[in-house]
Amino acid sequence: MSQQSAEQVLEVVLPGVVEPTGLELRRRARPVPARGQALVRVEATGVSFAEQQMRRAKYYDQPPFPFVPGYDLVGTVAEVGPGVDAALVGGRFAALTKIGGWTSHALVDVADLVPVPVGIDPVEAETLVVNGLTAWQMLHGVAKVTAGQMVLVHGANGGVGSTLVQLARLAGARVIGTASPRHHDAVRELGATPIDYRATDLSARVRALAPNGVDAVFDHVGGPGIVDSYRLLAPRGTLVAYGTASTRDQEGSSRLPVLKLFARLLWWNALPNGHRATFFNIWAGKRDAPKFRARLNRDLGAVLALLADGSLRPQVAARVPLAQVADAVALAESGTVTGKVVLVP
Ligand SMILES: NC(=O)c1ccc[n+]([C@@H]2O[C@H](COP(=O)([O-])OP(=O)(O)OC[C@H]3O[C@@H](n4cnc5c(N)ncnc54)[C@H](OP(=O)(O)O)[C@@H]3O)[C@@H](O)[C@H]2O)c1
Repeated sequence: MSQQSAEQVLEVVLPGVVEPTGLELRRRARPVPARGQALVRVEATGVSFAEQQMRRAKYYDQPPFPFVPGYDLVGTVAEVGPGVDAALVGGRFAALTKIGGWTSHALVDVADLVPVPVGIDPVEAETLVVNGLTAWQMLHGVAKVTAGQMVLVHGANGGVGSTLVQLARLAGARVIGTASPRHHDAVRELGATPIDYRATDLSARVRALAPNGVDAVFDHVGGPGIVDSYRLLAPRGTLVAYGTASTRDQEGSSRLPVLKLFARLLWWNALPNGHRATFFNIWAGKRDAPKFRARLNRDLGAVLALLADGSLRPQVAARVPLAQVADAVALAESGTVTGKVVLVP
């Protein structure tokens, strides 16, 4: 075994339904990349809402416990497997992983690596991998928001939400953003008009700002409030649902809230009123791997280019050492942060 491969890997294991303090740290031998793979030395990996659901066994299609969570990462290639261009070693890349990112070294198929522009802080780039892709594809691929339109972004202080607000502003749209009052200054700074998402008269407040309704609503909350989101649409407006955050702490099936939401969206789409209602899933089309990867490269490339030229302001809520993952998860779930908590191995 070479000196390099004898090095140890530090990774975080989610052993079952646990509090953040129940996450386990594990050391193991550094793996060797197989044909077509790279071993990435991880420099930054994010804490997403998905892991909040996974640690409650509430994520739609999570693997069986135990597993290493971690939806995305940024790092440099330390070693490549057979058949891979050795020139990749030392280059910095981003990857969307869904699980497996919370580690010091990750094996990634080379075809899944997206180059990170030179000179960008890996932690800042990390805040835009799953968040940037989700926001970009919903805004430009699904809702096709254009200059002068009015959009409503729920959770405007969150990782995806704060990116959506910025991208919508860059596209020339006006933005209303829901968030807890403690985040309103931050939401205003991003360029949106904030509204308290717990306000009982939320719809009336949106109507006061957009009397004809909004051209697009981005809703990750689901639950009964999705009805208000739909009713707030302007003629020809689009509802983009992309999560069921409000059901995270409910007992029962992880799938039922999503299936109920699908049924509702199907019904709304059957109505001849010019509105569109759709569910966005970042993994849609994954079976056609070449097409999926081409789209991922194009869209993440566009987002990272906006970061590189200073148009997008990365929202780093905190940088936390990987070994302090329990603190990072607790912070991400505290409701006190704007943007993304990033783990640094
Ligand atoms: N469909 C897809 O492909 C896809 C891809 C990526 C993400 N997502 C979804 O996107 C959402 C955001 O992810 P993220 O990583 O950006 O999360 P995040 O950074 O943790 O942000 C979550 C946001 O939601 C707000 N929030 C939490 N619970 C809420 C509730 N019950 N009602 C209303 N707002 C609530 C939070 O507000 P406070 O800070 O005030 O608590 C915060 O603004 C998640 O639901 C996630 O599952 C979906």
